[in-house]
Amino acid sequence: MSEFHGTAIVNIGLLATPEGDRARSGKAQDELKKQRNAYLLSENGVITGIGTGMPPQKLLSKYLVIDAMGSLVTPGLVDAHTHLVFAGWRANELRLKTAGKSYLDILASGGGILSTVKDTRAAEESDLFDKAKEALDNMLALGTTACEAKSGYGLNLKDELKQLRVMKRLNEEHPADIVPTLMAAHAIPPEFAGNRRGYIDLIVNEIIPSAAQEGLAEFCDVFCEEGVFTVDESEEILLAGQRAGLMSKIHADEIRAIGGSELAGKIGAVSAEHLIAMKDSGIEALKSGGSIACLLPGTSLCLGKPYARARDLIASGVPVAVASDFNPGSCPGYSLQLCMNLASWQYRMTPEEVLCAVTLNAAAAVNRAKSIGSLEIGKQADAVIWDAEDLDFLCYRFGSNLARIIIKKGSLIK
Ligand code: NIG
Ligand code: FE
Repeated sequence: MSEFHGTAIVNIGLLATPEGDRARSGKAQDELKKQRNAYLLSENGVITGIGTGMPPQKLLSKYLVIDAMGSLVTPGLVDAHTHLVFAGWRANELRLKTAGKSYLDILASGGGILSTVKDTRAAEESDLFDKAKEALDNMLALGTTACEAKSGYGLNLKDELKQLRVMKRLNEEHPADIVPTLMAAHAIPPEFAGNRRGYIDLIVNEIIPSAAQEGLAEFCDVFCEEGVFTVDESEEILLAGQRAGLMSKIHADEIRAIGGSELAGKIGAVSAEHLIAMKDSGIEALKSGGSIACLLPGTSLCLGKPYARARDLIASGVPVAVASDFNPGSCPGYSLQLCMNLASWQYRMTPEEVLCAVTLNAAAAVNRAKSIGSLEIGKQADAVIWDAEDLDFLCYRFGSNLARIIIKKGSLIK
């Protein structure tokens, strides 16, 4: 790329992007900029120009020219919720779940998250890196140019930091951007069974301060759920995170509405995730707390649960993001394209709302809305050229990869 001044994407049939540097809500989530017959220029990985028609020939000779051949171009997708770094898979759970065993029953009997904890503790850091890198390569090929990643399969100081270091190295070596979240409060580890207070003390007094001091995490997350962490415990942990400089996220109302989304609003969490079982009071709390609702339709699919109340959230003015929740248990897949299909068919979101949910609102959910999530001058040049002419087609077709060309920080990836 060095002989070129920058990159020019030309012959864009339709450039579709949300605009702004914060999450969009209500009617504004449905309003995109749509420009036909467009081009996009970038230099040093940053967007420097957007126009209609062809850029001047003289200019083009200095750019690496990528021909979009009349197709749809959008911002790179942002996956705001993944559990990217783990060892092993849990294909054995498929039969258990289809035979009627619940997710929480599997966890309570020492399986589920705890079986991934066993595998992840036993894994070398380099093996975790290789496995996560392979997933990230595939995600990038599917159009995901940035993602959030949570720890939470270590559940002790050493192994939580091991997971976070894998994310740091991925961030340094992989073209995709990773936003790291500490989720030591994902389950009570077996050595603290019967002593949950002891584990919460470990999180608050050791794991959070270490992760924050080493600059290994930006967010702190808690699995606030019946039989996992209570609302009071979640509050204590998230506030300890905030004191250490970690912004809050919360797994709330995934299976039972015990007050997680109400807590999110109360403590000003950047986002509340899942929300499958959410009540009206949760919607009101998110609205008043300014939190983003991060919905995970792949998890509803794999847990056989209802789909979250996206329409009610949008109608109430809560910004909605949509993410994969990629993990070996409740959602063993990372295709944001599939999540876009599910958001369309099951959440009944419009294609415009869906695109905003997986770009700008997702970027806002990981505190990156100033630099990614839309195609605008000054933002990072992360874009996807799709095998689609418009957004409707992208949201409607499912099961094949429609991402034809990926551009990350102005560089051609695929
Ligand atoms: O978001 N709910 C908690 N955490 C994940 C599942 C993790 C797992 O099952 O390993 C989730 O669904
Ligand atoms: Fe999750």
